Amino acid sequence: MANNTNLGAAKAAKNDEFYTQYADIQKEVNAYLDYNPDTFRDKTVLLPCDDPEWSNFTRFFAQNFERLGLKRLISTSYAVESKKYKDYEPTLFETESPLFDIDKTRIKGKIFELTRDTNGSGRIDIDDLEWHYLEGDGDFRSPEVCKLRDESDIIVTNPPFSLFREFVKWIFDARKDFLFIGHQGSIGYNEVFPLIQANRMWLGMGFTGGAGHFISPYDDYAVAGDHKKGMIRVSGVTWFTNLEHGRRHQPLILMSMKENLRYGKHIDLRENGYQKYDNYDALEVPYSDAIPSDYDGVMGVPVTFLDKYCPEQFEIVGITKTKFKLASKIYPEQIQVNKNGTRQRVTKLNDGPVIKLPTPPSNQVYYMVGEEIFIQLYTRILIRKKQ
Ligand SMILES: C[S@@+](CC[C@H](N)C(=O)[O-])C[C@H]1O[C@@H](n2cnc3c(N)ncnc32)[C@H](O)[C@@H]1O
Repeated sequence: MANNTNLGAAKAAKNDEFYTQYADIQKEVNAYLDYNPDTFRDKTVLLPCDDPEWSNFTRFFAQNFERLGLKRLISTSYAVESKKYKDYEPTLFETESPLFDIDKTRIKGKIFELTRDTNGSGRIDIDDLEWHYLEGDGDFRSPEVCKLRDESDIIVTNPPFSLFREFVKWIFDARKDFLFIGHQGSIGYNEVFPLIQANRMWLGMGFTGGAGHFISPYDDYAVAGDHKKGMIRVSGVTWFTNLEHGRRHQPLILMSMKENLRYGKHIDLRENGYQKYDNYDALEVPYSDAIPSDYDGVMGVPVTFLDKYCPEQFEIVGITKTKFKLASKIYPEQIQVNKNGTRQRVTKLNDGPVIKLPTPPSNQVYYMVGEEIFIQLYTRILIRKKQ
Protein backbone atom coordinates (compact mmCIF):
# COMPACT_ATOMS: atom_id res chain seq x y z
CA MET A 1 0.00 0.00 0.00
CA ALA A 2 1.39 3.40 -0.92
CA ASN A 3 2.50 5.46 2.05
CA ASN A 4 0.96 8.61 0.63
CA THR A 5 -2.53 7.17 0.51
CA ASN A 6 -5.03 9.97 0.89
CA LEU A 7 -8.19 10.03 2.87
CA GLY A 8 -10.31 9.40 -0.21
CA ALA A 9 -8.61 6.08 -0.81
CA ALA A 10 -8.88 5.25 2.85
CA LYS A 11 -12.59 5.88 2.63
CA ALA A 12 -12.93 3.77 -0.47
CA ALA A 13 -11.32 0.91 1.41
CA LYS A 14 -13.72 1.56 4.30
CA ASN A 15 -10.67 1.91 6.39
CA ASP A 16 -11.64 3.75 9.52
CA GLU A 17 -8.88 2.72 11.89
CA PHE A 18 -6.33 5.52 11.89
CA TYR A 19 -5.43 6.98 15.25
CA THR A 20 -4.55 10.57 16.00
CA GLN A 21 -1.26 11.55 17.62
CA TYR A 22 -1.28 13.13 21.07
CA ALA A 23 0.90 16.03 19.90
CA ASP A 24 -1.55 16.94 17.10
CA ILE A 25 -4.47 17.04 19.54
CA GLN A 26 -2.46 19.08 22.04
CA LYS A 27 -1.36 21.60 19.42
CA GLU A 28 -4.91 22.08 18.15
CA VAL A 29 -6.54 22.39 21.59
CA ASN A 30 -3.87 24.87 22.70
CA ALA A 31 -4.93 27.23 19.90
CA TYR A 32 -8.41 27.52 21.42
CA LEU A 33 -7.00 27.95 24.91
CA ASP A 34 -4.69 30.72 23.67
CA TYR A 35 -7.77 32.55 22.43
CA ASN A 36 -9.94 31.76 25.44
CA PRO A 37 -8.45 29.84 28.39
CA ASP A 38 -11.99 28.97 29.50
CA THR A 39 -13.03 27.27 26.25
CA PHE A 40 -13.53 23.93 28.04
CA ARG A 41 -14.19 25.20 31.59
CA ASP A 42 -17.18 23.55 33.32
CA LYS A 43 -17.99 21.72 30.11
CA THR A 44 -18.93 18.11 29.48
CA VAL A 45 -16.77 16.80 26.65
CA LEU A 46 -17.85 13.72 24.69
CA LEU A 47 -15.37 11.67 22.66
CA PRO A 48 -17.73 9.39 20.72
CA CYS A 49 -15.28 7.20 18.75
CA ASP A 50 -12.62 6.73 21.36
CA ASP A 51 -11.37 3.76 23.31
CA PRO A 52 -8.69 4.92 25.78
CA GLU A 53 -6.57 1.90 24.87
CA TRP A 54 -6.11 3.44 21.45
CA SER A 55 -7.34 6.98 21.54
CA ASN A 56 -5.03 9.84 22.39
CA PHE A 57 -8.14 12.03 22.58
CA THR A 58 -9.16 10.20 25.74
CA ARG A 59 -5.60 10.35 27.06
CA PHE A 60 -5.24 14.03 26.33
CA PHE A 61 -8.55 15.14 27.84
CA ALA A 62 -8.18 12.85 30.87
CA GLN A 63 -4.61 14.01 31.60
CA ASN A 64 -5.62 17.64 31.18
CA PHE A 65 -8.97 17.36 32.96
CA GLU A 66 -8.00 19.80 35.72
CA ARG A 67 -6.01 22.22 33.54
CA LEU A 68 -8.97 22.53 31.15
CA GLY A 69 -11.40 22.82 34.06
CA LEU A 70 -13.68 20.09 32.69
CA LYS A 71 -16.87 19.14 34.49
CA ARG A 72 -17.20 15.68 32.95
CA LEU A 73 -15.36 13.65 30.32
CA ILE A 74 -17.16 10.85 28.46
CA SER A 75 -15.42 8.58 25.99
CA THR A 76 -17.30 5.82 24.17
CA SER A 77 -15.82 3.01 22.13
CA TYR A 78 -17.15 0.89 19.29
CA ALA A 79 -17.43 -2.90 19.69
CA VAL A 80 -14.75 -4.83 17.87
CA GLU A 81 -17.25 -7.14 16.15
CA SER A 82 -18.92 -4.11 14.59
CA LYS A 83 -15.62 -2.74 13.24
CA LYS A 84 -14.10 -3.50 9.87
CA TYR A 85 -10.79 -4.23 11.62
CA LYS A 86 -11.31 -7.02 14.15
CA ASP A 87 -7.80 -7.80 15.36
CA TYR A 88 -8.32 -7.26 19.05
CA GLU A 89 -7.27 -8.66 22.40
CA PRO A 90 -8.87 -7.30 25.57
CA THR A 91 -6.30 -5.41 27.61
CA LEU A 92 -5.31 -6.10 31.22
CA PHE A 93 -7.26 -2.98 32.15
CA GLU A 94 -10.41 -4.79 31.00
CA THR A 95 -9.63 -8.43 31.89
CA GLU A 96 -8.46 -7.59 35.42
CA SER A 97 -11.51 -5.49 36.10
CA PRO A 98 -14.36 -7.10 38.10
CA LEU A 99 -16.61 -5.82 35.30
CA PHE A 100 -14.91 -7.94 32.61
CA ASP A 101 -17.43 -10.11 30.77
CA ILE A 102 -16.22 -12.61 28.19
CA ASP A 103 -19.63 -12.60 26.48
CA LYS A 104 -19.70 -8.85 26.12
CA THR A 105 -16.10 -7.92 25.39
CA ARG A 106 -16.32 -8.27 21.59
CA ILE A 107 -19.90 -7.22 20.92
CA LYS A 108 -20.60 -4.33 23.29
CA GLY A 109 -19.33 -0.80 23.18
CA LYS A 110 -17.87 0.72 26.34
CA ILE A 111 -18.27 4.00 28.12
CA PHE A 112 -15.44 5.60 30.10
CA GLU A 113 -16.25 8.49 32.37
CA LEU A 114 -14.18 10.92 34.38
CA THR A 115 -15.69 13.29 36.91
CA ARG A 116 -13.78 12.86 40.18
CA ASP A 117 -10.69 11.62 41.97
CA THR A 118 -11.63 7.95 42.48
CA ASN A 119 -8.26 6.66 43.75
CA GLY A 120 -7.47 9.37 46.29
CA SER A 121 -4.33 10.50 44.44
CA GLY A 122 -5.30 14.13 45.02
CA ARG A 123 -5.82 14.81 41.36
CA ILE A 124 -8.24 13.82 38.63
CA ASP A 125 -6.50 12.03 35.76
CA ILE A 126 -6.64 9.03 33.47
CA ASP A 127 -6.33 6.60 36.42
CA ASP A 128 -9.71 7.80 37.64
CA LEU A 129 -11.61 6.71 34.52
CA GLU A 130 -14.63 4.59 35.41
CA TRP A 131 -16.11 2.29 32.79
CA HIS A 132 -18.83 -0.20 31.94
CA TYR A 133 -20.21 -1.94 28.89
CA LEU A 134 -22.88 -0.15 26.89
CA GLU A 135 -26.17 -1.83 26.06
CA GLY A 136 -25.33 -1.73 22.35
CA ASP A 137 -22.17 -1.71 20.23
CA GLY A 138 -21.27 1.96 20.86
CA ASP A 139 -22.30 3.18 17.41
CA PHE A 140 -22.37 6.98 17.70
CA ARG A 141 -25.82 6.88 16.06
CA SER A 142 -27.28 4.51 18.70
CA PRO A 143 -29.91 5.91 21.08
CA GLU A 144 -27.65 5.57 24.12
CA VAL A 145 -24.74 7.45 22.53
CA CYS A 146 -27.20 10.05 21.16
CA LYS A 147 -28.36 10.55 24.74
CA LEU A 148 -24.75 11.14 25.84
CA ARG A 149 -24.35 13.57 22.94
CA ASP A 150 -27.40 15.48 24.15
CA GLU A 151 -25.94 15.66 27.69
CA SER A 152 -22.60 17.01 26.49
CA ASP A 153 -21.42 20.51 25.56
CA ILE A 154 -18.51 19.84 23.21
CA ILE A 155 -17.93 16.83 20.96
CA VAL A 156 -14.35 16.09 20.00
CA THR A 157 -12.87 13.26 17.94
CA ASN A 158 -11.45 11.95 14.72
CA PRO A 159 -14.57 10.17 13.40
CA PRO A 160 -14.66 7.20 11.01
CA PHE A 161 -13.91 8.64 7.60
CA SER A 162 -16.56 6.55 5.86
CA LEU A 163 -19.31 8.05 8.07
CA PHE A 164 -18.17 11.66 7.86
CA ARG A 165 -21.40 13.08 6.39
CA GLU A 166 -23.53 11.25 8.96
CA PHE A 167 -21.24 12.41 11.72
CA VAL A 168 -21.62 16.09 10.73
CA LYS A 169 -25.39 15.73 10.60
CA TRP A 170 -25.38 13.93 13.97
CA ILE A 171 -23.59 16.87 15.59
CA PHE A 172 -25.71 19.56 13.97
CA ASP A 173 -28.94 17.73 14.79
CA ALA A 174 -28.04 18.32 18.44
CA ARG A 175 -26.57 21.83 17.91
CA LYS A 176 -23.44 21.13 19.91
CA ASP A 177 -20.00 22.69 19.94
CA PHE A 178 -17.44 20.52 18.22
CA LEU A 179 -13.88 19.94 17.15
CA PHE A 180 -13.15 17.03 14.84
CA ILE A 181 -10.83 15.90 12.08
CA GLY A 182 -11.86 15.49 8.46
CA HIS A 183 -10.63 16.01 4.96
CA GLN A 184 -10.55 19.21 2.94
CA GLY A 185 -12.24 17.29 0.14
CA SER A 186 -15.43 17.16 2.21
CA ILE A 187 -15.75 20.99 2.20
CA GLY A 188 -17.70 20.74 -1.07
CA TYR A 189 -20.18 18.19 0.30
CA ASN A 190 -23.81 19.29 0.27
CA GLU A 191 -23.91 18.52 4.00
CA VAL A 192 -20.82 20.64 4.77
CA PHE A 193 -20.47 23.67 2.50
CA PRO A 194 -23.68 25.50 3.56
CA LEU A 195 -22.47 25.30 7.18
CA ILE A 196 -19.12 26.83 6.23
CA GLN A 197 -20.78 29.51 4.15
CA ALA A 198 -23.11 30.39 7.03
CA ASN A 199 -20.18 30.55 9.50
CA ARG A 200 -21.66 27.74 11.57
CA MET A 201 -18.52 25.67 11.00
CA TRP A 202 -14.96 26.68 10.10
CA LEU A 203 -11.48 25.26 9.90
CA GLY A 204 -9.31 24.94 12.96
CA MET A 205 -5.59 25.63 13.13
CA GLY A 206 -4.85 22.51 11.10
CA PHE A 207 -1.94 20.18 10.55
CA THR A 208 1.53 21.38 9.66
CA GLY A 209 1.94 21.43 5.89
CA GLY A 210 -1.67 20.36 5.35
CA ALA A 211 -0.90 16.70 6.05
CA GLY A 212 -1.21 14.58 9.16
CA HIS A 213 0.59 11.44 10.29
CA PHE A 214 -1.82 8.96 11.87
CA ILE A 215 -1.00 5.84 13.82
CA SER A 216 -2.05 2.79 11.82
CA PRO A 217 -2.61 -0.74 13.14
CA TYR A 218 -1.99 -2.17 9.66
CA ASP A 219 1.45 -3.61 9.13
CA ASP A 220 1.45 -2.75 5.45
CA TYR A 221 1.03 0.92 6.26
CA ALA A 222 4.00 0.88 8.59
CA VAL A 223 6.70 2.54 6.54
CA ALA A 224 10.14 3.88 7.21
CA GLY A 225 12.18 6.28 5.07
CA ASP A 226 11.04 9.87 5.06
CA HIS A 227 7.75 8.79 6.56
CA LYS A 228 7.33 7.75 10.14
CA LYS A 229 7.27 4.06 10.97
CA GLY A 230 3.88 2.73 11.99
CA MET A 231 2.19 5.82 10.60
CA ILE A 232 0.17 6.68 7.57
CA ARG A 233 0.54 10.10 6.02
CA VAL A 234 -2.78 11.65 5.06
CA SER A 235 -2.65 14.77 2.93
CA GLY A 236 -5.43 17.38 2.95
CA VAL A 237 -6.50 16.54 6.47
CA THR A 238 -7.85 19.34 8.62
CA TRP A 239 -9.84 20.21 11.75
CA PHE A 240 -13.46 21.36 11.63
CA THR A 241 -14.88 23.34 14.52
CA ASN A 242 -17.26 26.00 15.75
CA LEU A 243 -14.96 26.97 18.63
CA GLU A 244 -13.34 30.37 18.35
CA HIS A 245 -9.61 30.69 17.77
CA GLY A 246 -7.41 33.69 17.12
CA ARG A 247 -6.19 33.04 13.58
CA ARG A 248 -9.77 33.24 12.34
CA HIS A 249 -9.99 36.91 13.22
CA GLN A 250 -6.69 37.99 11.69
CA PRO A 251 -7.33 39.57 8.29
CA LEU A 252 -4.99 38.77 5.45
CA ILE A 253 -2.58 41.58 4.60
CA LEU A 254 -3.20 42.22 0.92
CA MET A 255 -1.73 44.24 -1.92
CA SER A 256 -3.74 46.06 -4.56
CA MET A 257 -4.18 44.47 -7.97
CA LYS A 258 -1.59 46.78 -9.47
CA GLU A 259 0.92 45.98 -6.71
CA ASN A 260 0.35 42.26 -7.12
CA LEU A 261 1.01 42.50 -10.83
CA ARG A 262 4.16 44.49 -10.29
CA TYR A 263 5.66 43.06 -7.08
CA GLY A 264 3.77 39.80 -6.44
CA LYS A 265 5.79 36.61 -6.15
CA HIS A 266 3.71 34.61 -8.68
CA ILE A 267 5.37 34.92 -12.07
CA ASP A 268 2.42 33.42 -13.99
CA LEU A 269 0.12 36.06 -12.53
CA ARG A 270 2.57 38.85 -13.30
CA GLU A 271 2.84 37.64 -16.89
CA ASN A 272 -0.83 36.85 -17.62
CA GLY A 273 -2.64 39.24 -15.30
CA TYR A 274 -5.88 38.40 -13.48
CA GLN A 275 -8.49 36.67 -15.61
CA LYS A 276 -12.25 36.35 -15.41
CA TYR A 277 -14.00 33.02 -15.71
CA ASP A 278 -15.78 32.31 -18.93
CA ASN A 279 -18.72 30.71 -17.11
CA TYR A 280 -19.02 32.70 -13.85
CA ASP A 281 -19.02 36.40 -13.28
CA ALA A 282 -15.96 36.25 -11.04
CA LEU A 283 -12.23 36.95 -11.05
CA GLU A 284 -9.87 33.96 -10.92
CA VAL A 285 -7.34 34.39 -8.09
CA PRO A 286 -5.14 31.29 -8.16
CA TYR A 287 -3.31 32.03 -4.87
CA SER A 288 -4.69 33.23 -1.55
CA ASP A 289 -1.74 35.61 -1.12
CA ALA A 290 -2.61 37.24 -4.44
CA ILE A 291 -6.15 38.29 -3.48
CA PRO A 292 -6.29 41.95 -4.53
CA SER A 293 -7.29 44.39 -1.81
CA ASP A 294 -9.12 46.67 -4.22
CA TYR A 295 -11.43 44.29 -6.12
CA ASP A 296 -15.05 44.60 -5.02
CA GLY A 297 -16.59 41.85 -7.16
CA VAL A 298 -16.70 38.08 -6.63
CA MET A 299 -13.34 36.26 -6.67
CA GLY A 300 -12.64 32.54 -7.04
CA VAL A 301 -9.90 31.31 -4.69
CA PRO A 302 -8.44 27.85 -3.97
CA VAL A 303 -10.16 25.81 -1.24
CA THR A 304 -7.03 26.24 0.92
CA PHE A 305 -8.11 29.88 1.34
CA LEU A 306 -10.38 28.63 4.13
CA ASP A 307 -7.25 28.13 6.27
CA LYS A 308 -6.86 31.91 6.16
CA TYR A 309 -10.48 32.96 6.03
CA CYS A 310 -11.42 35.84 8.32
CA PRO A 311 -15.21 36.39 8.34
CA GLU A 312 -14.79 40.09 9.11
CA GLN A 313 -12.74 40.51 5.92
CA PHE A 314 -14.63 38.38 3.36
CA GLU A 315 -18.03 36.83 2.81
CA ILE A 316 -18.28 33.42 1.19
CA VAL A 317 -20.58 33.64 -1.82
CA GLY A 318 -20.45 30.05 -3.07
CA ILE A 319 -18.36 27.18 -4.34
CA THR A 320 -17.89 26.04 -7.92
CA LYS A 321 -18.93 22.51 -7.14
CA THR A 322 -21.85 20.22 -6.39
CA LYS A 323 -25.29 21.74 -6.40
CA PHE A 324 -23.80 25.14 -5.49
CA LYS A 325 -22.56 25.50 -9.04
CA LEU A 326 -23.01 29.04 -10.24
CA ALA A 327 -22.48 28.28 -13.91
CA SER A 328 -24.07 30.87 -16.13
CA LYS A 329 -23.20 29.05 -19.33
CA ILE A 330 -23.70 25.55 -20.70
CA TYR A 331 -21.01 24.36 -23.11
CA PRO A 332 -21.78 22.04 -26.01
CA GLU A 333 -19.70 18.87 -26.41
CA GLN A 334 -15.98 19.65 -26.43
CA ILE A 335 -12.79 18.14 -27.76
CA GLN A 336 -10.36 17.41 -24.94
CA VAL A 337 -6.74 17.74 -26.06
CA ASN A 338 -4.45 15.74 -23.80
CA LYS A 339 -0.84 16.56 -23.01
CA ASN A 340 0.37 13.93 -25.51
CA GLY A 341 -1.81 15.46 -28.24
CA THR A 342 -4.50 12.76 -28.26
CA ARG A 343 -8.09 14.01 -28.54
CA GLN A 344 -11.47 12.81 -27.30
CA ARG A 345 -15.04 14.07 -27.18
CA VAL A 346 -16.17 15.07 -23.66
CA THR A 347 -18.68 17.25 -21.78
CA LYS A 348 -16.44 18.21 -18.86
CA LEU A 349 -16.47 22.00 -19.05
CA ASN A 350 -19.81 22.26 -17.28
CA ASP A 351 -18.30 20.80 -14.09
CA GLY A 352 -16.22 23.71 -12.82
CA PRO A 353 -14.60 27.10 -13.36
CA VAL A 354 -13.41 27.65 -16.93
CA ILE A 355 -11.00 30.15 -18.43
CA LYS A 356 -10.78 31.06 -22.11
CA LEU A 357 -7.28 31.33 -23.59
CA PRO A 358 -6.13 33.08 -26.77
CA THR A 359 -3.74 30.22 -27.69
CA PRO A 360 -3.38 26.56 -26.63
CA PRO A 361 -1.45 26.19 -23.34
CA SER A 362 1.70 24.10 -23.33
CA ASN A 363 1.91 21.01 -21.15
CA GLN A 364 -1.68 21.21 -19.94
CA VAL A 365 -4.95 19.50 -20.87
CA TYR A 366 -7.28 21.91 -22.69
CA TYR A 367 -10.67 21.84 -24.37
CA MET A 368 -11.86 23.12 -27.74
CA VAL A 369 -15.33 24.28 -28.59
CA GLY A 370 -15.07 25.05 -32.30
CA GLU A 371 -12.00 27.29 -32.52
CA GLU A 372 -12.27 28.51 -28.92
CA ILE A 373 -9.76 27.22 -26.36
CA PHE A 374 -10.53 26.66 -22.69
CA ILE A 375 -8.89 25.25 -19.59
CA GLN A 376 -10.71 24.03 -16.52
CA LEU A 377 -9.59 24.82 -12.98
CA TYR A 378 -9.95 23.02 -9.66
CA THR A 379 -12.81 23.78 -7.31
CA ARG A 380 -12.86 27.40 -6.21
CA ILE A 381 -14.43 29.08 -3.22
CA LEU A 382 -16.21 32.25 -4.33
CA ILE A 383 -15.64 35.18 -2.01
CA ARG A 384 -16.31 38.90 -1.87
CA LYS A 385 -14.58 41.59 0.16
CA LYS A 386 -16.67 42.98 3.01
CA GLN A 387 -17.05 46.71 2.88
C1 LIG B 1 -10.36 7.31 12.31
S1 LIG B 1 -10.54 6.30 13.75
C2 LIG B 1 -10.07 7.41 14.97
C3 LIG B 1 -10.01 6.87 16.34
C4 LIG B 1 -9.78 7.91 17.41
N1 LIG B 1 -10.89 8.84 17.45
C5 LIG B 1 -8.49 8.65 17.16
O1 LIG B 1 -8.52 9.70 16.58
O2 LIG B 1 -7.43 8.13 17.52
C6 LIG B 1 -12.32 6.17 13.89
C7 LIG B 1 -12.79 5.24 14.98
O3 LIG B 1 -14.22 5.19 14.95
C8 LIG B 1 -14.64 3.84 15.11
N2 LIG B 1 -15.97 3.71 14.48
C9 LIG B 1 -16.26 3.23 13.25
N3 LIG B 1 -17.58 3.27 13.05
C10 LIG B 1 -18.14 3.79 14.19
C11 LIG B 1 -19.46 4.07 14.60
N4 LIG B 1 -20.49 3.84 13.79
N5 LIG B 1 -19.66 4.58 15.83
C12 LIG B 1 -18.61 4.82 16.66
N6 LIG B 1 -17.32 4.58 16.32
C13 LIG B 1 -17.09 4.07 15.10
C14 LIG B 1 -13.56 3.03 14.43
O4 LIG B 1 -13.59 1.71 14.88
C15 LIG B 1 -12.31 3.82 14.82
O5 LIG B 1 -11.82 3.36 16.05
